[in-house]
Amino acid sequence: MHLSRRVENLKPYPFARMAEKLAALKARGVDVIRMDIGSPDMLPAEHILAAAEKAVRDTGTHGYPAFGYGTPSLLAAVAEYYGSRFDVALDPKREITALLGSKEGIFHLTQALLQEGDIALVPDPGYPVYRVAAEWARAEVYPLPLRREKAFLPDLDSIPPEILRRARILWLNYPNNPTAAVAGRDFYERAIELARRHHILLCHDAAYCGVAYDGYRPVSILEPAGAREYAVEFSSVSKTYNMAGWRLGFVSGNAEAVLAVRKVKSNIDSGIFPAITAAGEAALRGDQDWLAARNAVYAGRRDRILSGLADIGIKCDSPRASLYIWAPVPKGFTAESFADSVLDQTGVCFAPGTFFGGEGEGYVRISLATPNERVKEAMRRLKQWKSS
Ligand SMILES: Cc1ncc(COP(=O)(O)O)c(C=O)c1O
Repeated sequence: MHLSRRVENLKPYPFARMAEKLAALKARGVDVIRMDIGSPDMLPAEHILAAAEKAVRDTGTHGYPAFGYGTPSLLAAVAEYYGSRFDVALDPKREITALLGSKEGIFHLTQALLQEGDIALVPDPGYPVYRVAAEWARAEVYPLPLRREKAFLPDLDSIPPEILRRARILWLNYPNNPTAAVAGRDFYERAIELARRHHILLCHDAAYCGVAYDGYRPVSILEPAGAREYAVEFSSVSKTYNMAGWRLGFVSGNAEAVLAVRKVKSNIDSGIFPAITAAGEAALRGDQDWLAARNAVYAGRRDRILSGLADIGIKCDSPRASLYIWAPVPKGFTAESFADSVLDQTGVCFAPGTFFGGEGEGYVRISLATPNERVKEAMRRLKQWKSS
């Protein structure tokens, strides 16, 4: 078998490696508590499940979907959501495309825009797909460090002019994975100005815009006037509505970029299972009040974990949004050695910050998507953890 050079060079996805390691531990009888992945553990709301169930029983649901990039009704539901949630007016015919989850869209948008000689500006630490997608398109990656002293925002003024000249896309992601940082409208306005001056497409990944605490409400990068000329935003039902396994996301904003994604996808996939479309519409158009109670559950876990970390001497920022705590590791440890030590001694699994790039050294990412009883048990075990 001859594998392509691209695949030969492709590193295994860090969480796939982790899954193998955990499978080996489980086979030895270890009761592993996974706090490394951001996969929602709670059910979607009843009206979402009911819409899917009804659609599954419809004979018209099981053929190839008629619209590869989202039915007119689904795209209209996304436009309505943007209107009511962010006061952003989008044209569903040209400014929104539905995706099989935003991960797929992030990859395909990159293929639509980048080629050899181009540069992608990518946050470090960051969601690994931004980097892999750029490398797959044979573009170069210019990392933008996210550091605590800059509130985990990239220093846009420090990007050298020769890099900006070749940069085609700039990735931003707030609420942020993995640092849990948030960004305000003033930061987005500065990023839009940079994109305007240097003909760069701003790609904002808003996967966590529905997961926020203590009254904080994330804003959309499409809110400032004229943003749609320079930006697209990825959104998803995965974290917002507890639907990560359903695979439904959206890219909205700059029409040229949105239509380019449709072109790529129409050659690659055949659209979304209509029952998932029905559930997505129900999620977007239906009652949104249940999200406050769901977020309060995450906030309760957050507080319990912060207190458990404090018990072993780790102080960290309390996140206002996202599904994560970004915790500095104790002195004498690296991200990986601390995660390994906790896993070996307690069976509790944290994600080493280096899974998300070199700048993630010194941190572990702890997910709030772990059932309450398991969080309680994990913090009980963590108390027993010894640094040597
Ligand atoms: C920052 C970020 N973007 C995108 C995704 C992918 O989301 P989706 O389920 O919509 O593919 C994730 C998933 O963890 C994520 O953390």
